[in-house]
Amino acid sequence: MRIVMIGSGYVGLVSGACFADFGHHVTCVDKDANKIARLKAGGIPIYEPGLDELVARNVAAGNLSFTTELSEAVGAADVVFIAVGTPSRRGDGHADLSYVHGAAREIAAALDGFTVIVTKSTVPVGTGDEVERIIRECNPVAEFAVASNPEFLREGAAIEDFKRPDRVVIGIEDERARAPLEEVYRPLSLNRAPVLFTRRRTSELTKYAANAFLAMKITYINEIAELCERVGADVQEVARGIGLDNRIGSKFLNAGPGYGGSCFPKDTLALMKTSQDYETPLRLIEATIAVNDQRKRAMGRKVLNAIAGPVRGRTVAVLGLTFKPNTDDMRDAPSIAIIQALQDAGAKVRAYDPEGMAASEAVLNNVEYAGSAYEAAEGAAATVIVTEWDAFRALDLKRLAGIMADPLLVDLRNIYPPARAEEAGLRYVSVGRPGKLEEDAETSNERQAA
Ligand code: UDX
Repeated sequence: MRIVMIGSGYVGLVSGACFADFGHHVTCVDKDANKIARLKAGGIPIYEPGLDELVARNVAAGNLSFTTELSEAVGAADVVFIAVGTPSRRGDGHADLSYVHGAAREIAAALDGFTVIVTKSTVPVGTGDEVERIIRECNPVAEFAVASNPEFLREGAAIEDFKRPDRVVIGIEDERARAPLEEVYRPLSLNRAPVLFTRRRTSELTKYAANAFLAMKITYINEIAELCERVGADVQEVARGIGLDNRIGSKFLNAGPGYGGSCFPKDTLALMKTSQDYETPLRLIEATIAVNDQRKRAMGRKVLNAIAGPVRGRTVAVLGLTFKPNTDDMRDAPSIAIIQALQDAGAKVRAYDPEGMAASEAVLNNVEYAGSAYEAAEGAAATVIVTEWDAFRALDLKRLAGIMADPLLVDLRNIYPPARAEEAGLRYVSVGRPGKLEEDAETSNERQAA
């Protein structure tokens, strides 16, 4: 199959490289000439484990190429994927579809022979109809079908997710789109991934419904973690206890500082807007958004409350800036709100992140950067783990306790057993887990007495 991928961002680049690895001929297109020049020279504009090797291998094999010339590539294609950004529109939170619509207009002008055009970007219900209308209007004689094929990959595990998906969802309105898209995904049948064909609007909504459900699941366990702290229960054991029920499932039940990233915040907001437009408000999603927004800053207050004495002028070490490990992506990272709350209280922030420091400079102010976790923690009043990078799972806790002004570790990802941190001489505060048993007994007795 000759495939064109419009947009060489996260989804476009990973999908393009993986399709090439399936044996298809893929051309990735982007308007950003610098990005294309960099890709042609063997550079990868994002940090994603394994992507550099995958791209290099397929470029060498002649299956993958990069260009800024959309029309030439589209003219020769069987299937054209639109994988451009759909950011939140400033002001109203709706998905901004200007890049999708722009791509549709350019594709229309370049079509040559029957072509399937597929939206891979996360797009609101009805976008496929609009793409079809635009193409028809721009090129009334074109032979084409418009399909929806949302992408469910996660950053940091993108290649594995793409090649071994739980499912592929494809929405079509025109039967002529079925065979080419079956062909595109045929290699996945070896992995027995179910390919679900459905209508276009159903497919578009499925993507939002999946992301919003996951965001809600995380937010639910975060609220349960709050309650655990009050009643002296352990959220990790609650999560295990409920997650073993197959109807609930154990994934996405890790309590933490709130979800961030390029998808959940933007997609929950866009889904909420769609539901309001159709006068069917999704109140669970509205609550999820509000609870998650409040939680990020509340995590900053949690750190401030744990620090003994005044905070003004003291240094707080922040470990992990990106919204999750194995990425350099800072979009809606909880660290941003946490650091703001610390700075608002007069703390100086010294941060370390294995990959995210360069990207963080665009969104953080007055942060001092360190070359390692220990350098960040030197003389600090508290060290805060915000992201569960592997590098932070293997810290020498005794060394950490020894170099801080106050040996306080606030672990917002629950990566250490409390007893281990305490044995190392740290005062340890985590999320939704009781501290020492005696303290719990005391608090609960006091509460009962009151
Ligand atoms: C997500 C979806 O998982 C993916 O299917 C979709 O295509 C894009 O959005 P991604 O944003 O890359 O992927 O990251 P993900 O691993 O899902 O994490 C999202 C956020 O939730 C992160 O901030 C993460 O730290 C947080 N999270 C996740 C938790 O706090 N607890 C969990 O148990 C899981």
